Amino acid sequence: MAQIINGKEVSATVKAEVAQETARLRDERGLKVGLAVVIVGNNSASRVYVNNKKKACEEVGFQSFEYALDENVTQEQLLDLVSVLNRDDRVNGILVQLPLPAHIDETAVINAIAPEKDVDAFHPVNVGHIMIGNYSFLPCTPAGVMRLIESTGTDITGKQCVVIGRSNIVGKPQAMLLLQKNGTVTICHSKTKNLKEICLSADILVVAIGKAKFINGDMIKEGAVVIDVGMNRDENGKLCGDVDFESAEKKASYITPVPGGVGPMTISMLMKNTLTAAKQQAGIE
Ligand code: GUN
Repeated sequence: MAQIINGKEVSATVKAEVAQETARLRDERGLKVGLAVVIVGNNSASRVYVNNKKKACEEVGFQSFEYALDENVTQEQLLDLVSVLNRDDRVNGILVQLPLPAHIDETAVINAIAPEKDVDAFHPVNVGHIMIGNYSFLPCTPAGVMRLIESTGTDITGKQCVVIGRSNIVGKPQAMLLLQKNGTVTICHSKTKNLKEICLSADILVVAIGKAKFINGDMIKEGAVVIDVGMNRDENGKLCGDVDFESAEKKASYITPVPGGVGPMTISMLMKNTLTAAKQQAGIE
């Protein structure tokens, strides 16, 4: 039976580290840390995420600035706001909550954020840094996954790592971070053939495909570390991941639950990136 990786606990540790460093920088250097969060429209999931991000800012001692824009805001107005935030010294990090309404070009908005304030690490400059392995901001969810793997004491070097999902937010950067730690990485997606066979080869399996209970215990190698990035509703409306937890925990050595696994880590890693941004902008480290 697998040991459950407690994402809430690991996340609390990361937030405590960030809070301690933030307090030290405030006391010793008078440094204040600020995060701007932009939300467009009334997407209820986005509203929950944004509220959680603001709450985390309070917990670690950051200022947060929320900009809630109407669903019908024009792309030009949104780009103007990003431009103002790029120049605002109180703002060290800018987060534009995705998805944006269909009439707005997401890529244009991401590209408008100053790379040094891009705490999501979505800007092509930061994506390039991740590819090269020379980064200051780690993309939040993949970085959270790495921290959870680390918390199990697993050495990634030489391990078969399988990432299911190829999104720009999770799958692709996740593969790069595992590669950076000397994993042997395979990326699978909806068109992959022999998915079961590939999954069964995984010592470390990261699942981010966005389909409820897509991976079950039959697809998991005995003793694998299983990280579930999914957040779905099952047929009864209950939150569940991309992994069928019940059958998977019988095979894995370590497994993340949903909720309470990867989710809390994304936010604490955002806090860490925002602190890194503030330090860099102040010329510290
Ligand atoms: N929407 C879902 N996940 C994320 C994220 O990590 N960052 C932003 N900006 N939007 C999201």
